Amino acid sequence: MSGIKEPIRMLMPPLLWQAAKRLHRTFLSKSEWEAVPEGWSYGQTHPEVKGWNVEGVLKVYQKKWPRFLEMISGPGPLGLAHESELSSREELVSHNIVMSFGYVLSVATGAGRRLKMLDWGGGVGHYFHLAQRLHPDIKLEYHCKDVPLLAEQGRVFCPGQHFSADEVCLDDSYDLVMASGSMHFTEDWHGLLGRLAKASSGYVYVTLLPTVLKVPSFVFVQRPYAYGYETEYLSWCVNRDELLTAAREHSLLLVREMVVGHQPLIMGAQEQNVYRGFLFSKQSLAS
Ligand SMILES: C[S@@+](CC[C@H](N)C(=O)[O-])C[C@H]1O[C@@H](n2cnc3c(N)ncnc32)[C@H](O)[C@@H]1O
Repeated sequence: MSGIKEPIRMLMPPLLWQAAKRLHRTFLSKSEWEAVPEGWSYGQTHPEVKGWNVEGVLKVYQKKWPRFLEMISGPGPLGLAHESELSSREELVSHNIVMSFGYVLSVATGAGRRLKMLDWGGGVGHYFHLAQRLHPDIKLEYHCKDVPLLAEQGRVFCPGQHFSADEVCLDDSYDLVMASGSMHFTEDWHGLLGRLAKASSGYVYVTLLPTVLKVPSFVFVQRPYAYGYETEYLSWCVNRDELLTAAREHSLLLVREMVVGHQPLIMGAQEQNVYRGFLFSKQSLAS
Protein backbone atom coordinates (compact mmCIF):
# COMPACT_ATOMS: atom_id res chain seq x y z
CA MET A 1 0.00 0.00 0.00
CA SER A 2 2.72 2.46 1.02
CA GLY A 3 4.45 2.41 -2.44
CA ILE A 4 1.32 3.44 -4.34
CA LYS A 5 -0.07 5.66 -1.58
CA GLU A 6 1.66 8.89 -2.58
CA PRO A 7 0.67 8.89 -6.29
CA ILE A 8 -2.95 8.12 -5.34
CA ARG A 9 -2.95 10.91 -2.76
CA MET A 10 -1.68 13.40 -5.36
CA LEU A 11 -4.41 12.45 -7.83
CA MET A 12 -7.24 12.73 -5.30
CA PRO A 13 -8.94 15.94 -4.09
CA PRO A 14 -8.00 16.48 -0.38
CA LEU A 15 -11.52 15.89 0.97
CA LEU A 16 -11.84 12.63 -0.92
CA TRP A 17 -8.41 11.57 0.35
CA GLN A 18 -9.47 12.21 3.97
CA ALA A 19 -12.68 10.22 3.41
CA ALA A 20 -10.73 7.35 1.85
CA LYS A 21 -8.32 7.36 4.80
CA ARG A 22 -11.25 7.14 7.22
CA LEU A 23 -12.85 4.30 5.28
CA HIS A 24 -9.55 2.45 5.21
CA ARG A 25 -9.19 2.81 8.96
CA THR A 26 -12.76 1.77 9.63
CA PHE A 27 -12.85 -1.35 7.51
CA LEU A 28 -9.29 -2.54 7.05
CA SER A 29 -7.38 -1.35 10.03
CA LYS A 30 -6.84 -2.50 13.58
CA SER A 31 -9.43 -2.35 16.34
CA GLU A 32 -9.96 0.89 18.20
CA TRP A 33 -9.10 -0.70 21.55
CA GLU A 34 -6.57 -3.51 21.79
CA ALA A 35 -4.59 -5.10 24.63
CA VAL A 36 -0.83 -4.87 24.11
CA PRO A 37 0.99 -7.71 25.89
CA GLU A 38 4.38 -5.92 25.59
CA GLY A 39 2.99 -3.19 27.82
CA TRP A 40 4.25 0.40 27.82
CA SER A 41 7.25 -0.46 25.58
CA TYR A 42 4.76 -0.80 22.67
CA GLY A 43 5.03 2.97 22.26
CA GLN A 44 8.76 2.72 21.46
CA THR A 45 8.16 0.59 18.37
CA HIS A 46 4.93 2.24 17.20
CA PRO A 47 5.46 5.87 16.09
CA GLU A 48 1.71 6.23 15.57
CA VAL A 49 1.45 6.32 19.38
CA LYS A 50 1.79 10.09 19.67
CA GLY A 51 -0.11 10.61 22.91
CA TRP A 52 -2.39 13.55 23.66
CA ASN A 53 -0.28 16.61 22.93
CA VAL A 54 -1.14 16.73 19.22
CA GLU A 55 -2.78 19.30 16.94
CA GLY A 56 -5.49 16.80 15.94
CA VAL A 57 -6.96 16.69 19.45
CA LEU A 58 -6.66 20.45 19.89
CA LYS A 59 -8.46 21.13 16.59
CA VAL A 60 -11.39 18.87 17.52
CA TYR A 61 -11.69 20.52 20.96
CA GLN A 62 -11.60 23.99 19.37
CA LYS A 63 -14.20 23.11 16.77
CA LYS A 64 -16.62 21.64 19.30
CA TRP A 65 -16.23 24.26 22.03
CA PRO A 66 -19.00 26.72 20.97
CA ARG A 67 -21.47 23.87 20.46
CA PHE A 68 -20.52 22.35 23.84
CA LEU A 69 -21.26 25.65 25.62
CA GLU A 70 -24.55 25.97 23.75
CA MET A 71 -25.57 22.40 24.66
CA ILE A 72 -25.01 22.89 28.40
CA SER A 73 -26.85 26.19 28.59
CA GLY A 74 -30.26 26.53 30.25
CA PRO A 75 -32.05 24.15 32.60
CA GLY A 76 -32.26 21.12 30.25
CA PRO A 77 -30.60 17.77 30.99
CA LEU A 78 -26.81 17.56 31.02
CA GLY A 79 -26.59 14.11 29.46
CA LEU A 80 -23.80 14.85 27.01
CA ALA A 81 -20.10 14.22 26.67
CA HIS A 82 -17.86 16.77 25.03
CA GLU A 83 -16.26 13.95 23.01
CA SER A 84 -19.63 13.03 21.50
CA GLU A 85 -21.14 14.45 18.33
CA LEU A 86 -23.01 16.89 20.60
CA SER A 87 -26.34 16.08 19.03
CA SER A 88 -28.22 15.01 22.16
CA ARG A 89 -28.29 16.05 25.82
CA GLU A 90 -30.10 12.88 26.85
CA GLU A 91 -27.40 10.21 26.78
CA LEU A 92 -27.79 8.17 29.96
CA VAL A 93 -24.12 7.29 30.54
CA SER A 94 -23.10 10.93 30.12
CA HIS A 95 -25.93 12.01 32.39
CA ASN A 96 -24.67 9.57 34.99
CA ILE A 97 -21.12 10.97 34.65
CA VAL A 98 -22.19 14.61 34.95
CA MET A 99 -24.61 14.04 37.84
CA SER A 100 -21.96 12.01 39.69
CA PHE A 101 -19.64 14.99 39.26
CA GLY A 102 -22.38 17.20 40.72
CA TYR A 103 -22.61 14.88 43.73
CA VAL A 104 -18.84 15.00 44.21
CA LEU A 105 -18.88 18.80 44.11
CA SER A 106 -21.57 18.81 46.82
CA VAL A 107 -19.56 16.50 49.07
CA ALA A 108 -16.26 18.34 48.60
CA THR A 109 -17.49 21.90 48.94
CA GLY A 110 -16.70 23.30 52.33
CA ALA A 111 -17.85 26.14 54.48
CA GLY A 112 -18.67 29.39 52.73
CA ARG A 113 -19.55 27.41 49.57
CA ARG A 114 -15.95 27.71 48.42
CA LEU A 115 -14.13 25.02 46.47
CA LYS A 116 -10.62 24.91 45.17
CA MET A 117 -10.22 22.04 42.76
CA LEU A 118 -7.56 20.52 40.56
CA ASP A 119 -8.80 18.81 37.42
CA TRP A 120 -6.00 16.47 36.34
CA GLY A 121 -6.36 15.88 32.60
CA GLY A 122 -9.21 18.37 32.40
CA GLY A 123 -8.39 19.32 28.81
CA VAL A 124 -9.51 22.84 27.98
CA GLY A 125 -11.83 23.20 30.99
CA HIS A 126 -15.12 21.46 30.10
CA TYR A 127 -15.66 20.56 33.77
CA PHE A 128 -15.16 24.14 34.88
CA HIS A 129 -18.23 25.09 32.86
CA LEU A 130 -20.17 22.00 33.93
CA ALA A 131 -19.43 22.84 37.58
CA GLN A 132 -20.85 26.30 37.09
CA ARG A 133 -24.05 24.88 35.56
CA LEU A 134 -24.43 22.27 38.29
CA HIS A 135 -23.68 24.55 41.25
CA PRO A 136 -23.82 28.22 40.26
CA ASP A 137 -23.66 29.11 43.97
CA ILE A 138 -20.23 27.54 44.55
CA LYS A 139 -17.31 29.96 44.50
CA LEU A 140 -15.05 27.77 42.44
CA GLU A 141 -11.32 28.24 42.04
CA TYR A 142 -10.52 25.93 39.16
CA HIS A 143 -7.05 24.58 38.38
CA CYS A 144 -6.38 22.24 35.49
CA LYS A 145 -3.31 20.26 34.50
CA ASP A 146 -3.07 18.91 30.99
CA VAL A 147 -0.66 18.60 28.09
CA PRO A 148 0.84 21.90 26.79
CA LEU A 149 -1.39 22.41 23.71
CA LEU A 150 -4.59 21.91 25.70
CA ALA A 151 -3.47 23.90 28.74
CA GLU A 152 -2.67 26.87 26.50
CA GLN A 153 -6.12 26.68 24.88
CA GLY A 154 -7.78 26.28 28.29
CA ARG A 155 -6.41 29.66 29.40
CA VAL A 156 -8.25 31.21 26.44
CA PHE A 157 -11.52 29.32 26.95
CA CYS A 158 -11.66 29.81 30.73
CA PRO A 159 -10.21 33.25 31.50
CA GLY A 160 -9.38 33.80 35.14
CA GLN A 161 -8.87 30.09 35.83
CA HIS A 162 -5.55 28.29 36.20
CA PHE A 163 -4.07 25.96 33.60
CA SER A 164 -0.68 24.29 33.77
CA ALA A 165 1.27 21.78 31.77
CA ASP A 166 3.65 20.65 34.48
CA GLU A 167 3.42 19.15 37.91
CA VAL A 168 4.18 22.34 39.83
CA CYS A 169 0.41 22.54 40.43
CA LEU A 170 0.82 19.52 42.71
CA ASP A 171 2.85 21.60 45.18
CA ASP A 172 -0.38 23.43 46.02
CA SER A 173 -3.27 22.08 48.09
CA TYR A 174 -6.88 21.57 46.92
CA ASP A 175 -10.22 20.66 48.49
CA LEU A 176 -10.84 18.34 45.57
CA VAL A 177 -8.45 16.67 43.18
CA MET A 178 -10.16 14.99 40.26
CA ALA A 179 -8.73 12.70 37.60
CA SER A 180 -11.56 11.96 35.20
CA GLY A 181 -10.61 9.66 32.36
CA SER A 182 -6.98 10.62 32.74
CA MET A 183 -5.03 8.78 35.47
CA HIS A 184 -4.67 5.64 33.35
CA PHE A 185 -2.64 7.46 30.68
CA THR A 186 0.33 7.68 33.04
CA GLU A 187 2.71 4.72 33.04
CA ASP A 188 3.36 5.01 36.78
CA TRP A 189 -0.24 5.47 37.85
CA HIS A 190 0.60 4.30 41.41
CA GLY A 191 3.06 7.17 41.79
CA LEU A 192 0.64 9.63 40.23
CA LEU A 193 -2.16 8.58 42.59
CA GLY A 194 0.21 9.26 45.48
CA ARG A 195 1.03 12.74 44.18
CA LEU A 196 -2.66 13.52 43.61
CA ALA A 197 -3.44 12.34 47.15
CA LYS A 198 -0.68 14.50 48.59
CA ALA A 199 -2.07 17.57 46.82
CA SER A 200 -5.52 17.08 48.33
CA SER A 201 -6.61 18.31 51.72
CA GLY A 202 -10.10 16.88 51.24
CA TYR A 203 -11.14 14.53 48.47
CA VAL A 204 -9.68 12.67 45.50
CA TYR A 205 -12.05 11.60 42.75
CA VAL A 206 -10.70 9.11 40.22
CA THR A 207 -13.28 8.31 37.61
CA LEU A 208 -13.84 7.11 34.06
CA LEU A 209 -11.21 4.55 34.93
CA PRO A 210 -11.23 1.30 32.92
CA THR A 211 -11.11 -1.46 35.54
CA VAL A 212 -11.03 -5.25 35.75
CA LEU A 213 -11.80 -7.44 38.76
CA LYS A 214 -9.95 -10.73 38.18
CA VAL A 215 -6.88 -10.29 36.00
CA PRO A 216 -3.94 -8.01 36.88
CA SER A 217 -3.80 -4.49 35.46
CA PHE A 218 -2.82 -4.53 31.79
CA VAL A 219 -1.93 -2.05 29.06
CA PHE A 220 -3.99 -1.40 25.94
CA VAL A 221 -3.75 0.94 22.99
CA GLN A 222 -6.58 3.21 21.94
CA ARG A 223 -6.88 4.35 18.33
CA PRO A 224 -9.36 7.24 18.41
CA TYR A 225 -9.29 8.06 14.68
CA ALA A 226 -13.10 7.95 14.55
CA TYR A 227 -13.16 11.17 16.60
CA GLY A 228 -10.65 12.87 14.29
CA TYR A 229 -7.87 12.79 16.92
CA GLU A 230 -5.16 11.52 14.51
CA THR A 231 -3.17 9.88 17.27
CA GLU A 232 -2.98 6.74 19.37
CA TYR A 233 -2.32 6.46 23.08
CA LEU A 234 -1.45 3.82 25.63
CA SER A 235 -3.49 3.33 28.71
CA TRP A 236 -3.86 1.11 31.75
CA CYS A 237 -6.85 -1.02 32.46
CA VAL A 238 -6.51 -1.09 36.24
CA ASN A 239 -7.33 -4.01 38.50
CA ARG A 240 -9.80 -2.70 41.10
CA ASP A 241 -8.07 -4.39 44.07
CA GLU A 242 -4.70 -2.97 42.98
CA LEU A 243 -6.27 0.49 42.87
CA LEU A 244 -7.85 0.16 46.32
CA THR A 245 -4.61 -1.18 47.80
CA ALA A 246 -2.64 1.71 46.29
CA ALA A 247 -5.26 4.16 47.58
CA ARG A 248 -4.91 2.78 51.13
CA GLU A 249 -1.12 3.13 50.88
CA HIS A 250 -1.66 6.80 50.08
CA SER A 251 -4.05 7.28 53.06
CA LEU A 252 -7.13 7.49 50.89
CA LEU A 253 -10.42 6.11 52.23
CA LEU A 254 -13.10 5.00 49.83
CA VAL A 255 -16.19 7.15 50.39
CA ARG A 256 -18.27 6.12 47.39
CA GLU A 257 -17.71 3.82 44.44
CA MET A 258 -19.56 4.55 41.23
CA VAL A 259 -20.43 2.64 38.14
CA VAL A 260 -20.03 4.70 35.00
CA GLY A 261 -21.81 2.49 32.45
CA HIS A 262 -19.15 2.59 29.76
CA GLN A 263 -17.39 -0.63 28.81
CA PRO A 264 -15.68 -0.47 25.41
CA LEU A 265 -14.53 -3.79 23.98
CA ILE A 266 -10.77 -4.24 24.29
CA MET A 267 -9.65 -6.79 21.69
CA GLY A 268 -7.39 -9.50 23.06
CA ALA A 269 -8.10 -8.67 26.71
CA GLN A 270 -8.33 -11.61 29.10
CA GLU A 271 -11.12 -9.87 30.95
CA GLN A 272 -13.38 -7.12 29.66
CA ASN A 273 -13.25 -3.81 31.46
CA VAL A 274 -15.91 -1.74 33.19
CA TYR A 275 -15.47 1.99 33.70
CA ARG A 276 -15.75 2.85 37.39
CA GLY A 277 -15.41 5.91 39.59
CA PHE A 278 -13.98 6.17 43.11
CA LEU A 279 -14.44 9.05 45.52
CA PHE A 280 -11.82 8.96 48.25
CA SER A 281 -11.29 11.17 51.26
CA LYS A 282 -7.99 11.86 52.90
CA GLN A 283 -7.72 9.61 55.95
CA SER A 284 -7.21 12.58 58.23
CA LEU A 285 -10.72 13.79 57.41
CA ALA A 286 -12.40 10.63 58.63
CA SER A 287 -10.23 9.90 61.66
C1 LIG B 1 -10.20 10.97 27.83
S1 LIG B 1 -9.68 12.61 28.07
C2 LIG B 1 -10.63 13.06 29.51
C3 LIG B 1 -10.97 14.51 29.51
C4 LIG B 1 -11.83 14.96 30.71
N1 LIG B 1 -11.09 14.86 31.95
C5 LIG B 1 -13.11 14.20 30.79
O1 LIG B 1 -13.33 13.49 31.78
O2 LIG B 1 -13.92 14.30 29.87
C6 LIG B 1 -8.07 12.42 28.79
C7 LIG B 1 -7.37 13.69 29.14
O3 LIG B 1 -6.19 13.38 29.88
C8 LIG B 1 -5.16 14.24 29.42
N2 LIG B 1 -3.84 13.70 29.75
C9 LIG B 1 -3.19 12.65 29.19
N3 LIG B 1 -1.99 12.51 29.77
C10 LIG B 1 -1.87 13.48 30.71
C11 LIG B 1 -0.87 13.85 31.65
N4 LIG B 1 0.30 13.21 31.73
N5 LIG B 1 -1.10 14.91 32.46
C12 LIG B 1 -2.28 15.57 32.40
N6 LIG B 1 -3.25 15.26 31.53
C13 LIG B 1 -3.06 14.23 30.71
C14 LIG B 1 -5.43 14.33 27.93
O4 LIG B 1 -4.73 15.37 27.31
C15 LIG B 1 -6.94 14.51 27.94
O5 LIG B 1 -7.32 15.85 28.08
